[in-house]
Amino acid sequence: MEHPADSHTADSHAADFHHDPVMEAEIVEILSSLSPGVFADLTLGGAGHAVAALDANADLIVHGFDRDDVAIEAASTRLAPYGDRAVIHTTRFDRAAGLLRESGISRISGFLMDLGVSSPQLDVGARGFSYRIDGPLDMRMDHRDTKTAADIVNTYAPGELLDVLRSYGDERHAGRIVDAIMSARPLTTTGELAQLVADAVPAAARRKSTGHPAKRTFQALRIEVNAELEILGDTVESMIEMLQPGGVGLVLTYHSGEDRITKDRMRTAVDGDAPPGMPTTSDFRWFFRGARTAGETELDRNPRARSARLRAITRVEGA
Ligand SMILES: C[S@@+](CC[C@H](N)C(=O)[O-])C[C@H]1O[C@@H](n2cnc3c(N)ncnc32)[C@H](O)[C@@H]1O
Repeated sequence: MEHPADSHTADSHAADFHHDPVMEAEIVEILSSLSPGVFADLTLGGAGHAVAALDANADLIVHGFDRDDVAIEAASTRLAPYGDRAVIHTTRFDRAAGLLRESGISRISGFLMDLGVSSPQLDVGARGFSYRIDGPLDMRMDHRDTKTAADIVNTYAPGELLDVLRSYGDERHAGRIVDAIMSARPLTTTGELAQLVADAVPAAARRKSTGHPAKRTFQALRIEVNAELEILGDTVESMIEMLQPGGVGLVLTYHSGEDRITKDRMRTAVDGDAPPGMPTTSDFRWFFRGARTAGETELDRNPRARSARLRAITRVEGA
């Protein structure tokens, strides 16, 4: 299958890359007190959080990772003034721990994972992520990957499509949507799919829902295209293990599946091998309990922060 977005060059959108870093003030407050060392930003995007970290803490060196060439191009420009304090890697984040070790870095002061997509990925129709702007059914963060949203929509068996929409989109009307897809395929554009989903969802549910009726379907397909949840847990775990004493790991999630995996891996690190009810023997503690969310002022300015949940873990001093 041909992929129209293969013709993207990083330059095509990098100059316009604008993404508001979510919960920036809360995150910067934590990063500003990290001890000297490496801060790994595993989802560099437009480097909003990375720049804020470098400005807030002169003792940090940022290693930034992203799988999207357009993000890397934009981040490279923004981070250029910081010279040797910013090192950029174009890769999926499951390779981050290995790459840091290959560079001789075995301990880090902190890490951040700000999951999901950036505003420019959503806002450029040609990337195929948007249910609002027409474009090819693509949704690949890395254009070198081969599977697109069109491949999923047009080739998956009904049962597989149902699984994707239910597991990654929590879509209550998955059955109706899958039936509509099966009757209409092949589908080629985001506009066709968004309209098909809107027509398939019962009118009463459409009236009650606050967002676009295709929002959950698009989220589910994006997660499947980019295998987003498959590598998340092991990556969180590998980065937690790299924290130096006093180091802090931060993960910003945007839907329940991401949050569940993050919470489970952090809890396993905190609980260690201690039998139920016994004090933990682990080196790790929650940096704060539960998940923090964005404040009203930020939500007024940036509705994309609405579903954000921030979780944090630390390795105890002296461990
Ligand atoms: C929400 S944005 C990050 C925005 C960034 N914190 C900022 O302030 O500009 C998420 C970024 O993570 C990247 N990303 C998502 N999953 C990834 C993965 N598995 N490996 C590497 N990068 C990933 C996306 O390409 C996107 O650029």
